[in-house]
Amino acid sequence: MISILPVSKFPSPDSGAMIVTTRQLFDLAYGRFAVGAYNINNMEQALGLFEGHVRAKAPFIVQLSKGARSYAGSRMLEAILRAAEDRYPEAVFAVHLDHGDEATCYDAIDSGFYSSVMIDASHDPFEENVAATRRVVERAHAKGISVEAELGMLGGVEEDIAVDEKNAKLTDPEEAKAFVEQSGCDALAVAIGTSHGAYKFSGGQGIHFGRVEEIQRLLPGFPLVMHGSSSVPREEVERINAAGGQLDVTAKGVDVEHFARAIPLGVTKVNIDTDGRLVWTRVHREFFRDDPTGFDFRKPGKLFVEAYAQFIEHKCEKLQSAGVVDEVREKLS
Ligand code: G3H
Ligand code: 13P
Ligand code: ZN
Repeated sequence: MISILPVSKFPSPDSGAMIVTTRQLFDLAYGRFAVGAYNINNMEQALGLFEGHVRAKAPFIVQLSKGARSYAGSRMLEAILRAAEDRYPEAVFAVHLDHGDEATCYDAIDSGFYSSVMIDASHDPFEENVAATRRVVERAHAKGISVEAELGMLGGVEEDIAVDEKNAKLTDPEEAKAFVEQSGCDALAVAIGTSHGAYKFSGGQGIHFGRVEEIQRLLPGFPLVMHGSSSVPREEVERINAAGGQLDVTAKGVDVEHFARAIPLGVTKVNIDTDGRLVWTRVHREFFRDDPTGFDFRKPGKLFVEAYAQFIEHKCEKLQSAGVVDEVREKLS
């Protein structure tokens, strides 16, 4: 049994899988590769996620949102992950709360199941954001758990708060420096032009690399997190629509080739959820279009697991995390 966290119940005693903190992954990744962070809500997503990363030999972050916790239930998500951990002893991963409020962070910290939490008080004034983050950091660090915070405002939908594009606010570099110093967080989610969901960019919009550079200059070596990093591939959207969907074909996300530019600038964690939902939607819509009398959901379920595993392998290549797992395991053992 490999025990990294002093207090956590992770990992299960009979598992060879290695559960680490996000901070440990970031220390090894910074400037070299980004760690993909993917939201899961069900068994099929977990299976594809673990399978893809084990094939790619890449460490990863499993993210659980408040929405996932209320959809599947926290205990069910934990059971799914513990079963995945047993099935994939080669896996090296962190379990992270995505966009938590303060109360949910404490629940996650006290559960002994998470190795990392995100406190998202980015909608509050600066001082309140710092204070809430500071409180969470104290509780989390006492148990060896990492903390991600957010400063600035992404567009799109975060849990139940919708931020339209005109109200989105890029992270101010000076504020980011002060925030990190005052809050003690381990990683900072920055608003650099991306947004959540399938509708991110129109025309020539994209990542504001100049802003990332400026933040890195003031926070050298500090891990930055890019939320809203799905690519929303045109081909995927067209296939969904050809199978009965009605998604906007002008929807556009982050160019996967841009990960290579963001990594040397300190982007160390890359959050992807929407793209996985698109894979699920495409596989299921096409399956039932082609088999209209079918109703055995295990058939498309199996196809989805394989499609999602392949999707993950591809992302690992682009995030430059493919092939590093042996090194990570050795250094963190
Ligand atoms: O940033 C939000 C993630 O995509 C999670 O989405 O809150 O619908 O689970 P959710
Ligand atoms: P996407 O909607 O681009 O997948 O972003 C997910 C995310 O940031 C989760 O925190
Ligand atoms: Zn997010």
